Amino acid sequence: MGQIVQAAKITHVPSIWMSETMPQYKGIRQSAVDGYAKLRQDAIDRGVDTFIIFDTHWITNQGFHLNAKPHHKGRFISHELPHMLADMEFDYQGDSELAQSILSVLEERGERAMGHAQPDLGMEYGTLLPMHFINKDVNARVLPIAVNQFSSIEENRRWGSAIAEGIKRSDRKVAIFASGSMSHDFTPNERSVDGLNSVNGEFNRQMDLRVLELWETGKWAEFLDLLPDYAVKCTGECAMNDTALLFGALGWKDYEGKIDIYTPYFGSSGTGQANISFSV
Ligand SMILES: [Fe+2]
Repeated sequence: MGQIVQAAKITHVPSIWMSETMPQYKGIRQSAVDGYAKLRQDAIDRGVDTFIIFDTHWITNQGFHLNAKPHHKGRFISHELPHMLADMEFDYQGDSELAQSILSVLEERGERAMGHAQPDLGMEYGTLLPMHFINKDVNARVLPIAVNQFSSIEENRRWGSAIAEGIKRSDRKVAIFASGSMSHDFTPNERSVDGLNSVNGEFNRQMDLRVLELWETGKWAEFLDLLPDYAVKCTGECAMNDTALLFGALGWKDYEGKIDIYTPYFGSSGTGQANISFSV
């Protein structure tokens, strides 16, 4: 029987790539890199076979989509921020079998879900950037899952629950990562250079810190009641539906785990970021 052996809410900001590859920015995101290293070690210790990534940069508008390709290989430049993230090579095994197991559950439950394995389907940096660090020499399979920007929190709760059941019916040990921001209000372009290391607006910063308090004290029901408003008022990245998928897979209000903050909260280009491990 398969199981979820690791879960996390993770950052994927391109300034991490700058921190690693551009001498003038060397080390600015060291705490994020260090958090990735802890996630990598957990994955090794727990024998992760497959990383499932809820990728808020694979943004879809209708239905629920899985990247079921057997192999992901290429070279990536971000079309959003080409000056920050480019020349990233990748080569990962995919997980068509696990995708099929999850799709079977979604179909049984009457959800409009699809898997795609066409060679032209690319990868986005919500998956690629964290995998570059966390999957380095781990060589686990990678299964990217798109985030639908027009879906409801409730739909994502259901889809997350189906993902958990699909994992259970497989033979895989799986890590599930919600790859997305906390608040996500980009610093306006005129101030964007100065905003590289900050959160845009005290309201967003305070909301993010309060959410972290709720998580640290295990107030899951309060957080989940807050989530729809939090997503709207703090300009959630892809409507914070990656977070809804994560909690859906973890059992929603029945989740009884604890968090471990692997990268403390930080601002990046106006957005609120962290790496947070959820016990499973
Ligand atoms: Fe992002």
